[in-house]
Amino acid sequence: MIEPATLVGEYTATAHASGPLSGKLRVPGDKSISHRALMFGGLAAGRTNITGLLEGEDVMATGRAMQAMGAVISRENDQWTIDGTGNGCLLEPQHELDFGNAGTGVRLTMGLVGAYDMKTRFCGDASLSSRPMGRVLDPLREMGVQVDAASGDRLPVTLHGPKVTAPITYRVPMPSAQVKSAVLLAGLNAPGITTVIEPVMTRDHTEKMLTGFGAELEIETDDNGVRHIRLQGQGELTGQTVDVPGDPSSAAFPLVAALIVPGSDIIIENVLMNPARTGLIITLQEMGADIEFLNRRLAGGEDVTDLRVRASELKGVVVPPERAPSMIDEYPVLAIASAFAEGETVMQGLEELRVKESDRLSATARGLEANGVDCSEAESTLMVRGTPGGYGLGGGLVATHLDHRIAMSFLVMGLAAQNPVTIDDDRMIATSFPDFTDMMTALGGRFAQAQTQR
Ligand code: S3P
Repeated sequence: MIEPATLVGEYTATAHASGPLSGKLRVPGDKSISHRALMFGGLAAGRTNITGLLEGEDVMATGRAMQAMGAVISRENDQWTIDGTGNGCLLEPQHELDFGNAGTGVRLTMGLVGAYDMKTRFCGDASLSSRPMGRVLDPLREMGVQVDAASGDRLPVTLHGPKVTAPITYRVPMPSAQVKSAVLLAGLNAPGITTVIEPVMTRDHTEKMLTGFGAELEIETDDNGVRHIRLQGQGELTGQTVDVPGDPSSAAFPLVAALIVPGSDIIIENVLMNPARTGLIITLQEMGADIEFLNRRLAGGEDVTDLRVRASELKGVVVPPERAPSMIDEYPVLAIASAFAEGETVMQGLEELRVKESDRLSATARGLEANGVDCSEAESTLMVRGTPGGYGLGGGLVATHLDHRIAMSFLVMGLAAQNPVTIDDDRMIATSFPDFTDMMTALGGRFAQAQTQR
């Protein structure tokens, strides 16, 4: 149901307490896999066909960048077709590559083309321009890439690779799939073996998909659980068929909404269940969530399932730091679930949340406080004390700081809180989940958007 906004601002949106959510939905394709499908398809020789691609703004920015470097991309009905250049054959772009809000797009593409003997300039929006790029620029410098960056290794960045790229061995200093991937992608253009040492496993889509496209890549896990990923550079990559499963990080929003809106019972179809992405589901189950896996299956080399989710009485838990990499994008919405749970939830090991699309730890804590939730934020920890039933919660305005996941998390909160929850700006939702409001409305969610400028 669309209602007039309670608070008029150009891009504000408000969520109101809703009746039980019910029905089925299919969330958009996984963002991580979608970026990689366009990149690897654009790089590989021959044709790549992609179905289920996330058509969000972040992924489209990656597509435009690949086009600017020689990939030919077209779309017919739901299928995307890419004719790639062949490994080592990307062209020098004639303009700067604008990645908008997309951290994964810009960091992986810096790895992909930074090692080429050509000039490439990268830029992005205010959020992306405030995020650290040094974590990717440092290993590229070791490989011989000339870097010209704004102060603090921020965007805009210009890269110029050497005549011959040096393959390196790089131990990733923080758990980051983006850094791991950027080094491996630069290694595609280096003679010899590039090795990434990953002490804490992060999402492995780059390794899986590069292998699928024909790269020579081997992974060894030592006795301490440290992964050694070795890639043979300058190999041939060949176009593939990629069927992108639903994004568990997007499924997280209807999932938590159904758990906290009393009487809800929904099915979320076709959700990726890669073990490096399931930390939220494990945590919610520990909290007492009623989540059933239906029709668990293998699709395109990934574990996929339909999730049946019913409203549940949740209890607070301690979420250990070692779980963070498998749910790094899901803490804001877990904090919302925790606000409706009995007792305290303590989330540890959150230092990486400070450098996401916003400082997500602080943005989440401020949003909770504005809506009457008892919480406390420490350097890398968030504690939330819940109010089962949501009595007295809501009524606040949340600053989203150009962060799609903060925006969606607090709209979910508004569906179950006693009072409405308003966010200052809903435009960034289109980066990862363009139909979020429509899909949630179809389940029974009540939203109001400001009518100006739409
Ligand atoms: C991603 C890795 C994660 C995640 C991001 C997507 C990827 O970032 O937060 O949304 O696709 O590799 P970090 O590598 O910074 O942890």
